[in-house]
Amino acid sequence: MSANTPAAVIVLAAGGGTRMKSRKLPKVLHPVCGRTLVGHAVAAAQELTPRQLVVVVGHQRELVEAHLAEVYPGVSTAVQLEQKGTGHAVRTALAELASRGERPEGTVVITTGDAPLLTGATLAALVAAHAGQGNAATVLTAEVPDSTGYGRILRDASDAVAAIVEEKDATEAQRAVREINSGVFAFDAELLGEALAKVTTDNSQGEEYLTDTLEILRTAGHRVGAVVAADHRDVLGINDRVQLAEARRILNARLVERAMREGVTVVDPATTWFDVQVTYEPDAVVLPGTQLHGATHLGEGCEVGPNSTLTDTTVGAGASVSNTTSIGAEIGELAQVGPYAYLRPGAKLARKAKAGTYVEIKNSELGEGAKVPHLSYIGDATIGAHSNIGAASVTVNYDGVNKHRTTIGAHCRTGSDNMFIAPVTVGDGAYTAAGSVITNDVPPGALGVSRAQQRNIAGWVARKRPGTDSARAAAEAAGEQQS
Ligand code: UD1
Ligand code: CA
Repeated sequence: MSANTPAAVIVLAAGGGTRMKSRKLPKVLHPVCGRTLVGHAVAAAQELTPRQLVVVVGHQRELVEAHLAEVYPGVSTAVQLEQKGTGHAVRTALAELASRGERPEGTVVITTGDAPLLTGATLAALVAAHAGQGNAATVLTAEVPDSTGYGRILRDASDAVAAIVEEKDATEAQRAVREINSGVFAFDAELLGEALAKVTTDNSQGEEYLTDTLEILRTAGHRVGAVVAADHRDVLGINDRVQLAEARRILNARLVERAMREGVTVVDPATTWFDVQVTYEPDAVVLPGTQLHGATHLGEGCEVGPNSTLTDTTVGAGASVSNTTSIGAEIGELAQVGPYAYLRPGAKLARKAKAGTYVEIKNSELGEGAKVPHLSYIGDATIGAHSNIGAASVTVNYDGVNKHRTTIGAHCRTGSDNMFIAPVTVGDGAYTAAGSVITNDVPPGALGVSRAQQRNIAGWVARKRPGTDSARAAAEAAGEQQS
């Protein structure tokens, strides 16, 4: 643990996020590139390996707590019942820590649950400057092109930070300031507690502003410093859905750029979307209109897209996946998927297997070189190596109550338009005839046929559909002259 390891990071995430106009989701649970807003804040905070990590929850806290318990089980929460301001939120977190006998000593970092572009590296730089300068408080600031909505940084004649003024409380001249408060701070724990006790609600919003602690500390003779973010976009705070989309675009551009720098060809970065968890090998190619979500992995030299959405999907080296939606699938080396395939959880394609055009595969394994080329549904099935499934076939896996398995051996050739009524097994090297409904097991090497004999009723059209084009064509074919 380095000397700069903070005693605690407190993530403020209790606010309602009124400006999101969201009925079902609290602001901090809106997703950006595979993580919620609060998830990004926690991930950045974890990079500091703090001794305590507390998320202040309030608005729709059951949802936020359930999400944190699922995704970050080690993180604790402090409940702020009423959202009386950022200062009050921090006081609530410190009281919670104290009640657990874990009152922080040393540096406390405060971040917000609505700044998803903030990185662990930026937080670490803030903490290092805070320690290096021996400050009581250090604020992360940024020079932004448009400071609307943010607290403005007021500096004194010697350029030192004197105070932060919220937009709603600012004078015309103060509003013109383009250096803003990111909402991220490092504090000396003890001095923070003392300053918070002095914060009043004497402002336009009637809230306890955390930002007031800076002026309080300065006035009491303590050092207050600032770190200006190298890239102002790092501190973008999300208050509405326009900013949410902007943050997503910026983060995505970073993720796509990183992939390209590591050897992935991205043909059209503007229409390619990466989640933070996506991993890849060199020479993967991503074609336009492709979204890669969750723990998707691109193997060396694979080609994905155009117009494909892959979630938690592994793409093997040299595989190709076109115009496909895939969730929870494993695509083997040199396998081919699509165009227009739908792979669902548990779809596993071995090396050189194929799921072709208009094919849906769920909870099924395709052995090496096995092919389902056209218009088929394969659910709850095992298909052996090098077997070929004829076009328009269905593994009929559902009896209305239970699901059943279809097992097809290796080197089988099943006919087009087969229904495999599961549970059913087709042995190695067996064939089935086109149009068959396979209800019984087919032994290895046998031909399974299940369809009625065809009969032709001669002259039916002439008798039953006289005067139609069909009747005329039939008559012509029979060599008769029409008058
Ligand atoms: C706040 C800052 C502002 C800064 C901006 C950066 C204050 C008074 N203002 O303004 O200087 O430029 O962030 O984005 O600090 N929260 C709670 N409990 C509360 C109130 C807020 O947990 O009682 C949380 C919110 O969930 C949010 C964060 O604190 O994650 C910031 O609150 P928000 O209402 O978005 O503050 P801003 O008006 O953006
Ligand atoms: Ca905000």
